Amino acid sequence: MKILVTGGAGFIGSHTCVELLNAGYEIVVVDNLYNSSEKSLERVRELTGKDFAFYPFDIRDKDNMRKIFKEHKIDACIHFAGLKAVGESCQKPLEYYDNNIGGTLALCEVMREFNCKKIVFSSSATVYGMNNISPLKENMKTGGTTNPYGTTKYMIEIILEDFHKADSDWAVTLLRYFNPIGAHKSGRIGENPNGIPNNLMPYITQVAIGKRPFLSVYGNDYDTHDGTGVRDYIHVVDLALGHVKAVEKIIKDTPDVNIYNLGTGKGYSVLDVVNAFEQASGQHIEYKIVERRPGDIATCYSDASKAYNELGWKAERGLLEMCEDSWRWQSTNPNGFEE
Ligand code: NAD
Ligand code: UD1
Repeated sequence: MKILVTGGAGFIGSHTCVELLNAGYEIVVVDNLYNSSEKSLERVRELTGKDFAFYPFDIRDKDNMRKIFKEHKIDACIHFAGLKAVGESCQKPLEYYDNNIGGTLALCEVMREFNCKKIVFSSSATVYGMNNISPLKENMKTGGTTNPYGTTKYMIEIILEDFHKADSDWAVTLLRYFNPIGAHKSGRIGENPNGIPNNLMPYITQVAIGKRPFLSVYGNDYDTHDGTGVRDYIHVVDLALGHVKAVEKIIKDTPDVNIYNLGTGKGYSVLDVVNAFEQASGQHIEYKIVERRPGDIATCYSDASKAYNELGWKAERGLLEMCEDSWRWQSTNPNGFEE
C-alpha cells in the first residue's frame, strides 16, 4: 500500500512518516518546505532504515502533482500540508485561504483524475469554536471559528464532506487534533517553529535552553483548577499512530465520512505543564502571569472514546513523557534541523 503524505517534512508529518514506514506502508512525500527542512526526511530514513520518494512541490501546482500520480500508484493520501499560525492568519487571510483551501482543492482535483479518492485530513479542535463545553465530542456543532486559520479547517471539513455526498467513492477521514507536543524518543525529529513560538510547549523549551528569558502565562483568572488555561496535550507519536489506524480503516472500509478526535481526554493547565516540564527536564522555568490572550478559552479537551471504539486507538503517553521527549529534542537540537 502506497500513501501520499502532503506536508510530510513538517512536525506531525515527519512523525507520521516514521510510523507508517514502521507499520510496513510505502510512502511518497510532497512538501514545498515552506515551514520545514528536508533534513527531517533524512532523519526519517535514518530512524526507519527505509527509503521513499520526496517531491519538493507545492500542492497547488497541479502539473507537478500529476507527475507524482503518474510515477506512483497512490492508494490513499494523508493531507497535512497547510499553514498553521493563528495570529499570522489574521494578518494574511488571503495567503491562508489560498494555501489551505486552494491547496486542498488542487490536491483533490488531481487525486480524482487518478481515481484516488481516499483522504485523511488534518483538522483541529479549533473547529469546535468557542461555544461548546468540554469534553468535546465529534457530533457537537462546529463553526464559530475566530480566525482565518480555524475557518480554513472548518471549511475544508465541509468541502470534503460535500465530495462524499456528490460521489460516494470519496472516503474522507477528518482527524481533529488537540494539542500535539513531544517528539520522537530518539530526539532526531521534533517541532521546529520559525521565529518566536506561539504555542506553549515550544515556548517553554526555548525558555529552558535560555533563548527566551521567561514564559508569559496568559491569564490566571480562568475558571479552572489553578486559574490558567486547560488543554488536551497529546504526544505527537500517539497522534502519528492514530493516523496509521485511520489509514488502515480508510483502505479497507466502504467509503464514508468519518470524524475522530485525536486527544487524550485529559486536560492540563499551563502551570501543570510548567511543573511537569521542570520535573522532566530538571530545568527551572521562569514565568510571569500576564493578560489573557484574546481568543483563548478556559478549557478545551476531547472525548476520545470514538477513536478508541472505531479505530482501536488511544493515546498511551502521559504528560511527563511528552515533556521529557520535547526537552530531549530541544536540548540536543537547539537550532532545530540546522546543525
Ligand atoms: P508544519 O508546519 O510543521 O507542517 C506542515 C507542512 O506543510 C510543512 O512542512 C510545510 O512546509 C508544508 N506545506 C505548507 N503549505 C504547503 C503547500 N502549499 N504545498 C506543499 N507543502 C506545504 O505543521 P504541523 O504542526 O506538522 O501540522 C500539520 C497539519 O496539522 C497542518 O495542516 C496543521 O494545520 C494541522 N494541525 C496542527 C496542529 C498543531 O498544533 N501542530 C493542531 C491541529 C491541526
Ligand atoms: C492552538 C491553536 C489552535 C489549535 C490548538 C490545537 C493558537 C493561537 N491556537 O491553541 O488553533 O486548534 O492549538 O492544536 O495557536 N499559553 C501561555 N503562554 C504562551 C503560549 C500559550 O500561557 O506563551 C497558554 C494559552 O493561553 C493556552 C495554553 O497555553 O491556555 C495552550 O496554548 P497554545 O499552545 O497556543 O494552544 P491553544 O491555545 O490550545
